[in-house]
Amino acid sequence: MILESFETGPVDCNCSIIGCPETREALIVDPGGDADKILARVKELGLNVRQILITHGHFDHVLAAREVQKATGAKIAIHRKDAWLYRLTPVQTKLFGGSFSPRPPRPNRWLCEGDVVEAGSIAARVMHTPGHSPGACCFHVANNSLLFSGDTLFAGSIGQWRFPGGSIEKIFASLDRLMTLPDETKVIPGHGPHTTIGKERQSNPYLDEERRELLRREDAERPGLFKSILLMLAQAVGLRRSG
Ligand SMILES: [Fe+2]
Repeated sequence: MILESFETGPVDCNCSIIGCPETREALIVDPGGDADKILARVKELGLNVRQILITHGHFDHVLAAREVQKATGAKIAIHRKDAWLYRLTPVQTKLFGGSFSPRPPRPNRWLCEGDVVEAGSIAARVMHTPGHSPGACCFHVANNSLLFSGDTLFAGSIGQWRFPGGSIEKIFASLDRLMTLPDETKVIPGHGPHTTIGKERQSNPYLDEERRELLRREDAERPGLFKSILLMLAQAVGLRRSG
């Protein structure tokens, strides 16, 4: 399998290119920006991109979707429950203090739990893992012990559940589901360093029931939508500083 993963866009989203060495067919996961960088790598590797898989509809995972689709003709696939977020990419970009971005292209395929997306010998199974957003998905490439976890699971952390459409209970349940995968599964999250399911099973603090209880209590005083948007802004500033 050909695998390249690198940071793209204003919030350093991990964009991945997965290719079949025999057929040269490929998938792209989360084109978060820097379309030129993505397309140059696709060209250098001699790949024919079949589908663009979007883990969820936050702007930082889709900013290069239009240009990558235009250049490759690949189909765009996302879970239907995140369609509204995806369509609001220009608004999200503005809210996070970015420059105007055009609405991303219309999706060609709605991803569903259990779907298998293929490119040559690559077979990525869709796991619907809500919590960070309603339509958040992970992609499990079982033959290669690989998981693209989007913003559901990070190395030593999990995604923010207080964004509009998020849910603390759902992200905990999604995390538990990911922990049913084999220890050796390599995890490429939406941001930050790569990890493995085994490492996370041993040390991810969000698997600890006491910590979950504490977070549940805090979440019971959960802010409304307006305050959620302010939190999104604060998070954006934090992410941009840390990036
Ligand atoms: Fe996100």
